[in-house]
Amino acid sequence: MNDEYINSVIQGDCLEIMRSIPNDTVDITFADPPFNLKKRYSGYKDDKDFKIYLEWCKKWIYEMVRITKPTGSIFVHNIPKWLTYYAGFLNEVAYFKHWITWDAPTAPMGKSLQPSHYGILYYVKDPKKRKFYEIRYPHKRCRKCGYLLKDYGGKKAGLHPFGPLVSDVWTDIHRIKHSKYRDEHPCQLPIHLLERIILMSTDENDIVLDPFVGTGTTVIAAKRLGRRFIGLDIDERYVNIAKDKLSKESLSSKVGDIWVSFYLDEIVTIRDKDWEKLSHYFFIPENVKHVDFTKIKLDKQIRLPLCTCVL
Ligand SMILES: C[S@@+](CC[C@H](N)C(=O)[O-])C[C@H]1O[C@@H](n2cnc3c(N)ncnc32)[C@H](O)[C@@H]1O
Repeated sequence: MNDEYINSVIQGDCLEIMRSIPNDTVDITFADPPFNLKKRYSGYKDDKDFKIYLEWCKKWIYEMVRITKPTGSIFVHNIPKWLTYYAGFLNEVAYFKHWITWDAPTAPMGKSLQPSHYGILYYVKDPKKRKFYEIRYPHKRCRKCGYLLKDYGGKKAGLHPFGPLVSDVWTDIHRIKHSKYRDEHPCQLPIHLLERIILMSTDENDIVLDPFVGTGTTVIAAKRLGRRFIGLDIDERYVNIAKDKLSKESLSSKVGDIWVSFYLDEIVTIRDKDWEKLSHYFFIPENVKHVDFTKIKLDKQIRLPLCTCVL
């Protein structure tokens, strides 16, 4: 592997660049390609002939699998229509793990059901060697009172104090709506979506490669989580934005020495195995002598102080 690629964002055609990367050298690959929906990118024309688009997709998908290590994973994000074809390509060269449904409104498609989710295909190179960590998201709570929003009935006592294990349906991560959080890019992904994927499938220092990095979501997520990264994009303007953001990025997404994912001031993803250590950092008011994390009534007292976000 060319050392110059590591921790950089490179402008160029992803197929050409990936072809220069040896087999089995990156830990995970994540792709969020153009959806062929005539989106207005600053350089790329998102309007390929149906067959040509799919032939092109097959080529970069095969490259992603080739360069991923046997312990590694391959993720591809798109609308369900294209994923049905991608799954066919991936089934030839990798192993299916999940079709993750990301609940997020998408553009109306004319006379049809309103599309309301994207998919993320999750494949592995070798199911026996794959790296995977169970992850948790926080219980949904009333912002004011801290009580759980969901009625778990008689099962409350057995609840995990932080929150449920993440399933293959993700409803707790929203698309970037506010323009102050957006760059000039038509389809930027939220950083904590990528952080969840990275926490689930990599360790510190592992290499994360994104062939369509846009304005840098994946590489920022990787940097915040202490992973190495390679970002590729054909568009010089997006590459410059990504590089600029990376150079200013100083956040370490940690509580103590534990990698977690934040959105604003709340932890949104943790690794299951880290909970025990992590629970010691939760703020417990002085007047509370004993906190039983499994008691829902006390949960409203448990807040993570802001100061633990950046250490
Ligand atoms: C859906 S966007 C990715 C957005 C990115 N996930 C983000 O959060 O900013 C697709 C990107 O692919 C880039 N692109 C299109 N063709 C490419 C190619 N052949 N090689 C590399 N990048 C390409 C476009 O410039 C665009 O930024």
